[in-house]
Amino acid sequence: MLKNATLRQLKVFEAVARNLNFTRAAEELHTTQPTVSIQLKQLAEIVGMPLVGQVGKKIYLTDTGHLVYAASCDIMDRLDRLVFEIDETQGLTRGNLKVSIVTTAKYFVPRLLGSFYKLHPGIEVTLEVINRDQILERLDQNLDDLYIMGLAPEHLEVTAVPFMENPLVVVAAANNPLALESDIDPARLANEPFIMREQGSGTRLAAESFFKMQNLRVNVRMTLGSNEAIKQSVAGGLGLAVLSKHTLALDHASGAFAILDVRGFPLLRQWYAVFPAKKHISSVTQAFLDYLAKEGASKDDEATQIGKFG
Ligand code: PGA
Repeated sequence: MLKNATLRQLKVFEAVARNLNFTRAAEELHTTQPTVSIQLKQLAEIVGMPLVGQVGKKIYLTDTGHLVYAASCDIMDRLDRLVFEIDETQGLTRGNLKVSIVTTAKYFVPRLLGSFYKLHPGIEVTLEVINRDQILERLDQNLDDLYIMGLAPEHLEVTAVPFMENPLVVVAAANNPLALESDIDPARLANEPFIMREQGSGTRLAAESFFKMQNLRVNVRMTLGSNEAIKQSVAGGLGLAVLSKHTLALDHASGAFAILDVRGFPLLRQWYAVFPAKKHISSVTQAFLDYLAKEGASKDDEATQIGKFG
């Protein structure tokens, strides 16, 4: 009897059907893969038909699975709307705020969320730190209230509110001879090994477009998906890197890095708070946007004050 299905089972099935991947669904729901499998099996028993099939490693939805998926989406949307409506009656005394951010934003967003939470302790905040490609997927599926990224997507209809500067700089080990020079010609970067962020990273896109504009072919020695790992490699003398100044703020005292005075740098980018253009945003989200605008303006000064290290 379908009415015996639980909301939990429908939620788990919705995540599996959307991701077509058990591991991803489990990660997203902060649970384990066996739990996901059990919930799915129970739901299929209640429905009386298989909901997913498997060919090799790929899973697919059966015809019945497609029907249950559409119904699950409707039910989840309705519940989300209900939560929204109830929250709206409570002003900022309660509510949820779901934010997904790109890797580099983790250097400042958690602190901003922390101080926002202190002002509105009734609000429950959920934060996902993922790469740009995953952000774009979640944005497309309207899974969060707000996304923070360094480059608003052009292929999706979104509202993008810039709230803080994101200067990108060239960093080197403190003992690199270039650290003592000023007004360095960008052409000289071609002689140095570079450590780059992974494909799809906003930092990498910005660095590549600068190199392209300068007709520069840099020698990429290593590609790494983590700002922290890049910083360690730069400090160890493996090469230069283009990084957001925000990633360096906590290392100010370490003396391990130098920001090189390369002509054309810092590359001036902005951080954007992004949401689907047609989305009706909650008062909690609006309050956080206002908070970002206020705090972002004061943080701009801090970011620009991080000068030469070492
Ligand atoms: P990234 O994003 O962490 O993916 O490089 C930062 C940015 O877009 O500036």
